[in-house]
Amino acid sequence: MVFKTRTSNLSLLPDFAQISLVLILCFALCNSGAAENGKIVGGHEAPKNGYPSAVPLYYLAYPGCAATIVHQEWLVSAAHCVSGTVGHHTFTAGDHNLAIREDTEQNVTAIEAYAHKQFNRSTFHNDIALFKISPPLQLNKYVQKAVMPSPDFNPKGIATPVGWGATENQSISVVLMEVDVPLITNEECREAYPEKIFDSSICAVAIEGGKDACKGDSGGPLYFKQDGKQILIGIVSNGRGCGNKKYPGVYTRVSKFLGWMKEITGIDFTAPGDNSRGKVGTGGNRKGKIITILAESVCNQYQQYLKDKKILTPVKKMPQSSRTKPGWLVWKKCSARSCNSFKFVH
Ligand SMILES: *[C@@H]1O[C@H](CO)[C@@H](O)[C@H](O)[C@H]1NC(C)=O
Ligand SMILES: *[C@@H]1O[C@H](CO)[C@@H](O)[C@H](O)[C@H]1NC(C)=O
Ligand SMILES: *[C@@H]1O[C@H](CO)[C@@H](O)[C@H](O)[C@H]1NC(C)=O
Repeated sequence: MVFKTRTSNLSLLPDFAQISLVLILCFALCNSGAAENGKIVGGHEAPKNGYPSAVPLYYLAYPGCAATIVHQEWLVSAAHCVSGTVGHHTFTAGDHNLAIREDTEQNVTAIEAYAHKQFNRSTFHNDIALFKISPPLQLNKYVQKAVMPSPDFNPKGIATPVGWGATENQSISVVLMEVDVPLITNEECREAYPEKIFDSSICAVAIEGGKDACKGDSGGPLYFKQDGKQILIGIVSNGRGCGNKKYPGVYTRVSKFLGWMKEITGIDFTAPGDNSRGKVGTGGNRKGKIITILAESVCNQYQQYLKDKKILTPVKKMPQSSRTKPGWLVWKKCSARSCNSFKFVH
């Protein structure tokens, strides 16, 4: 695993935006796959299908982010992995080696994406997003929901980020990588990032350095292992460089967003019961939330679905200024004939 989105200078674009650019340049110019700041050490290949809730997030077929299964129809990821204007996010559940067909994979497409409305691109506050996917996942040994933390869960000890992000040798990893990193307190983390640590952050860093999530791992899971369960405590968010012992990895603290997740999905992730908690609720209230609709392939089908459900009403032309405002659906990359813009029914 290598670079996360960094909090300084460059990386206010989703990871994939930059990576695609690098990739394009590299196809043309270079053969050194090593990313310039990549210094992840200590990571290693995860056991095959050992993290069945972790999935790569492809943007235009490039795996620049990751996500975690929280329900058959919902994945959680980072807000900075959701672009406000472009679509084409797809996921492959049940995957390990991205380059090989393993017959455990299920490809799904995002049909709705909700970045947290208060996501702040400078501080990475509220770096969380939900994707509704189609078709629903078939849960099995290889494809599972993550175990959710309770609202007051405050883990201490070792946590494990996993991802297909860059390693010290490559700009992405073809196989899922994992690394064990000690959690630190938010007070300790604030010493490195005085303005960027919130109650909704959680940090991890190895004293000796060199163990970290990095760019391309964004949006993916930080697990805490307890009683044989992989509890989803964090979402890979940001950090300065990667693996620098002075700059911890910063994650979105999932336990602080269970209410927000319920608001969007209607699912009560705090409900006890099966080991994945999540209990289906009444459908959620997504009216007035920022939403980006994705994927040409499901465009017509989804347009009909939205109309039938009376979630959205078509409008002829969306004002440019409304594109990222609540209540407006951005539907780009669909063919002009079939997919226009939509406004929420209020
Ligand atoms: C799933 O998507 C991946 C990445 O786009 C692709 O390589 C693979 O062939 C697809 N698998 C199936 C079963 O369609
Ligand atoms: C993001 O946070 C910074 C620092 O607290 C603040 O100055 C800025 O206004 C925030 N931006 C948004 C869009 O809320
Ligand atoms: C990176 O390359 C070095 C040298 O070839 C190798 O020893 C090391 O295992 C590689 N690391 C990873 C994570 O692949």
